[in-house]
Amino acid sequence: MRLSILSASCAALALAETLPVPLGLDAYVPAPASNPITREKVEVGRALFQFRGLSRDGTLSCGGCHLPEHAFSDGKPGAVGVRGQVSERRTPPLINRAWGKSFFWDGRAATLEAQVLQPIVNPKEMDLTLAEIGQRVRAEATLRQRMKKVFGRDAGNEDIALALASYVRTILSGDSPYDRFVAGDRTALSPQQQLGLRLFRGKANCVACHVGPHFTDERFHNTGTGWRDGAFVDAGRAEVSHETSDRGAFKTPGLREVARAAPYMHDGSLRTLEEVVDFYDEGGRENPERDAEMRELKLTTEEKRALVEFLKSLSGKVSEGWPGGR
Ligand code: HEC
Ligand code: HEC
Repeated sequence: MRLSILSASCAALALAETLPVPLGLDAYVPAPASNPITREKVEVGRALFQFRGLSRDGTLSCGGCHLPEHAFSDGKPGAVGVRGQVSERRTPPLINRAWGKSFFWDGRAATLEAQVLQPIVNPKEMDLTLAEIGQRVRAEATLRQRMKKVFGRDAGNEDIALALASYVRTILSGDSPYDRFVAGDRTALSPQQQLGLRLFRGKANCVACHVGPHFTDERFHNTGTGWRDGAFVDAGRAEVSHETSDRGAFKTPGLREVARAAPYMHDGSLRTLEEVVDFYDEGGRENPERDAEMRELKLTTEEKRALVEFLKSLSGKVSEGWPGGR
């Protein structure tokens, strides 16, 4: 899964021990001043991400739900935690989340540092107590040593969060056919994909929400996915904001690597990209809080196909961890 993503300019950055960034993204991966990205922190964060000891029965790591071959989601409509418990929400892909403005489908975590311990203490996911997190890591000799080397003290929850967040920031995707097209290679997209791109920006109005280098405005919108049989089955953002108008609103997911991330939406209710495009063509699902940008699109069969082919062009080169690291 570790793919070479070095372009000439990135190679120069790598010498200065900066994480290389693929074509199409900002030159630097952002991180808070209180948690700068360093090689050592990323490497131990990567080990923690795969550490099954962070779950009650030792069967499940972060990487058990966030798999590289599914763009760090899991291919299932609902996440499966310890003891086979199935969540109502799907595991989201973790791509370019260093640029994220909030986390979870409802945005209830403001930073990655605040997010990464939550699955560990969620009884439906990994099911530890806060006190057990540090204990489990300290009980594993190699991890204990590596954490101490990086942070200069015995691993506590705060350090574990810093390391996990640093690792998640290194999961990057860019240098896709779309990026090469934007950079001037007019042959990088097929004529059909170019039509799809025009539709995405024009008639199909996707850019109203899926905007910028990561194809998300990082805001919350009601497309109708949370509405079923005359009621909201998931209140979404309203659970956090307590605003009536946020009922059924979810965070706009980025679309890089989307072709690998099926099934789609917060509940995995749409199985394929074709189903997603049909859903938008119909204006999503009518409900009392449906976003003003959702409307019937009247796309032809040709146009729907072109949109799907364009979405596939957002699959590029995925990298994770520090290049050359363990
Ligand atoms: C049981 C499967 C499962 C495990 C294990 C798991 N996650 Fe997740 N992850 C999810 C689900 C489901 C969500 C979305 C939940 C929600 O929005 O309410 C999520 C959301 C996230 C997000 C937010 C992404 C975004 O863009 O909003 C991050 C980051 C993340 N997980 C990282 C981790 C880390 C780090 C670990 C290990 C400590 C972990 N996950 C373990 C299923 C899992
Ligand atoms: C009003 C804002 C808005 C518009 C317009 C919009 N989207 Fe979305 N999109 C969202 C939100 C919000 C979600 C997540 C909904 C959920 O999880 O229930 C989403 C989810 C998706 C997903 C699923 C990604 C995943 O990982 O689950 C795809 C694919 C997608 N949109 C493509 C498109 C395309 C193509 C268009 C144009 C035809 C479009 N979107 C128009 C807001 C929008």
